Amino acid sequence: MPLINTPLRRVVAIVPAAGSGSRMGDSLPKQYCEIYGLPIIAHTLRALAAVSRIERIAVVVAPDDCYWQGIADAYADQFGAKVVWHPVGGSTRASSVLNGVREVAADFAADDWVLVHDAARPCIRPTLIEQFLDQLVDDPIGGLLALPVADTLKRGDSSQKVVATIDRDYLWRAQTPQMFRLAVLAEALAAMPTATDEAQAMESLGHHPKLIVGDSTNLKITYETDLLLAQNYLMAHET
Ligand code: CTP
Ligand code: MG
Repeated sequence: MPLINTPLRRVVAIVPAAGSGSRMGDSLPKQYCEIYGLPIIAHTLRALAAVSRIERIAVVVAPDDCYWQGIADAYADQFGAKVVWHPVGGSTRASSVLNGVREVAADFAADDWVLVHDAARPCIRPTLIEQFLDQLVDDPIGGLLALPVADTLKRGDSSQKVVATIDRDYLWRAQTPQMFRLAVLAEALAAMPTATDEAQAMESLGHHPKLIVGDSTNLKITYETDLLLAQNYLMAHET
């Protein structure tokens, strides 16, 4: 079945939230740390829920996660009935996303869109998601938000000495959201469970995801210092 010119396919979001946040060094998984009295994941879900074209938001949490139920109960008014929680997280991000895709597959068509957005990117703005959707609506494959590399890039050796300067032309930093068609994304993730993003899995099948210019405020919270940055960005977005 040709995928080109399939108009206005439905959009389901998958939010991988089954990581432990090991680089944050906190026993509480980072997606549950609070910024402005709201857990990071609640900021993320609130932004996704504000996008009317996203029909459902499937959150993938770890099977032994003892926090998500409390968050779902306490903050449901922030993100509403579109959010469904699935305790089917895997050992890698790719396996968590794949398990989420399998949870929603029965309710969506093979060429419907799956939009994947990290729970740990709470500063995404609904207007940026709208622009992202607009740019991909007619695309046969899909794509991702990304930023052209701004810094000079160095390759180091094992003793932390520079061995080369890398030409940064055409280099991009991948962000999320990333969005692909349901069936081919499931096939790609199943074939490459080590992929660190959906685009890498799609590339391994020979596809060329579209790069859509993102926003530097859409950071992924990884280290504790990122919390302060995220707090500032969230405050700036509110005003
Ligand atoms: N994630 C997931 N399942 C995993 C690993 C990660 O759903 N097995 C999710 C995280 O919860 C996060 C997103 O994927 O929302 C991006 O991953 P990352 O920033 O690496 O988060 P963690 O894996 O939690 O952090 P760390 O790598 O520092 O342990
Ligand atoms: Mg990780």
